[in-house]
Amino acid sequence: MVIEKICCIGAGYVGGPTCSVIALKCPEVKVTVVDKNKERIKQWNADKLPIYEPGLDKVVKECRGKNLFFSVDVESAIEEADLIFISVNTPTKTCGNGKGRAADLKYVESVARLIADVAAGDKIVVEKSTVPVKAAESIMNILRANQKPGVSYQILSNPEFLSEGTAIDNLLNADRVLIGGEETKEGQLAIEKLCWIYEHWIPRSKILTTNTWSSELSKLAANAFLAQRISSINSLSAVCEFTGANVSEVAKAIGTDTRIGNKFLNASVGFGGSCFQKDILNLVYICECLNLPEVAAYWQQVIDINEYQKSRFTSKVIESLFNTVTDKRISILGFAFKKDTGDTRESPAIYVAKTLLDEGAKLNIYDPKVEHAQIFEDLTYATGSKEYVKERVSLFPNAYSATEKTHAIVVCTEWDEFITLDFRKIYDGMMKPAYIFDGRMILDDEKLSKIGFHVHTIGKRN
Ligand code: NAD
Ligand code: UGA
Repeated sequence: MVIEKICCIGAGYVGGPTCSVIALKCPEVKVTVVDKNKERIKQWNADKLPIYEPGLDKVVKECRGKNLFFSVDVESAIEEADLIFISVNTPTKTCGNGKGRAADLKYVESVARLIADVAAGDKIVVEKSTVPVKAAESIMNILRANQKPGVSYQILSNPEFLSEGTAIDNLLNADRVLIGGEETKEGQLAIEKLCWIYEHWIPRSKILTTNTWSSELSKLAANAFLAQRISSINSLSAVCEFTGANVSEVAKAIGTDTRIGNKFLNASVGFGGSCFQKDILNLVYICECLNLPEVAAYWQQVIDINEYQKSRFTSKVIESLFNTVTDKRISILGFAFKKDTGDTRESPAIYVAKTLLDEGAKLNIYDPKVEHAQIFEDLTYATGSKEYVKERVSLFPNAYSATEKTHAIVVCTEWDEFITLDFRKIYDGMMKPAYIFDGRMILDDEKLSKIGFHVHTIGKRN
């Protein structure tokens, strides 16, 4: 019954934190996290980890070298493991059938082929990556078509629900753990083995077991529902700005209905992150393939409203600055897709910055955690010109220096430190009239107006 060795393929935002917590809670289990990216593994073995996540350093330091290992030797880790997590990236396809919508399963498939190649004993293979419904069938087909004598496979779906910035807390205190598997005796036994791992710290009542397809679909559904709430409140933020209703008051009024609940109702410049858009596009694509165009159109709207929100916010910045930002210096506060992470994947800040650069603006950018090289890389990719970005974008070590002599401040990430800035001091150092566009509703707009700022807050007629 007992699992002695776990291998996790993919040392990213999911594989790293998830397996560190498993190692912490299951000291008798050897956990090896592997990746083909040598640099990333080097960082996992160094003092400065490759990702910033509150609480992660402590967990890694406690387990690393004891029962938690990071390695590039993927084959050996597969060979010795009883249970293998596939935790590789599943980005949106950029070419071929389903381009721009379907999930690209090339990394998952190459891992499945490697497992089939290397495995010499029984393996439980667990999909941790977010995949389309029925992906487990493809993995199973690859594994069983290449099965060697004396080897047997069980495939489980165990999607991850952590959010970046709160990953360790989410893993330690998960709302639920979801495990899907085959409804055969062997399938149920494999489910029990994975349950045994989680039961080291998660109460059994919070471990849900389902069939494989329900588990795969539930992950896409959960992200679609979460993103849908944001698009719903963001759509109403536009109504608020035209009518004088205040979106925070509306969110509170509807969120106190226990049937609706108060979480995920913060209007914003738009949602970002590596998953919401990717997973909803994937869901839309699946619906289209199943000939369910009405369902596809329904979920597509969640993405469309998000695009509308980003563009609406950025247009407001340009219109307010007398319809031209050419050669104006604008300060962007926050570049990560949310606070408490250094991750910029699909960050709305990239959209805002790119649009302002396209309009000829010069940008001063500050983010407490995002690496400077990452900002340059993202903007070079977005604009297509390294030289233009180098010439027009300056990066700063704090919000005060980033805002000096600028015409406007655009808040793109809700970092706590922005709330307590000395805005009187900032105002004094800025060009006049001085503007603030709060894309996260974190600042006290009345106080800022009293100082002299022209303020625009999402979801409020300022
Ligand atoms: P990531 O890009 O941070 O990490 C994936 C890692 O897999 C990379 O380091 C890459 O080098 C490695 N990899 C790819 N192919 C490999 C191979 N053949 N052999 C060895 N290593 C390989 O991605 P992530 O954010 O950790 O996401 C992983 C999966 O988890 C995705 O499917 C994502 O949708 C899902 N997910 C992500 C989050 C999140 O918050 N980021 C949350 C829940 C689920
Ligand atoms: C999200 C889900 O919350 C996780 O459950 C899921 O595991 C993960 O995606 C995934 O599959 O990758 P994450 O993207 O890390 O997690 O972060 P969220 O807290 O969900 O925020 C996503 C985006 O929505 C951020 O840009 C955030 O600022 C924005 N957001 C969030 C809002 O604009 N308003 C809100 O009320 C909440």
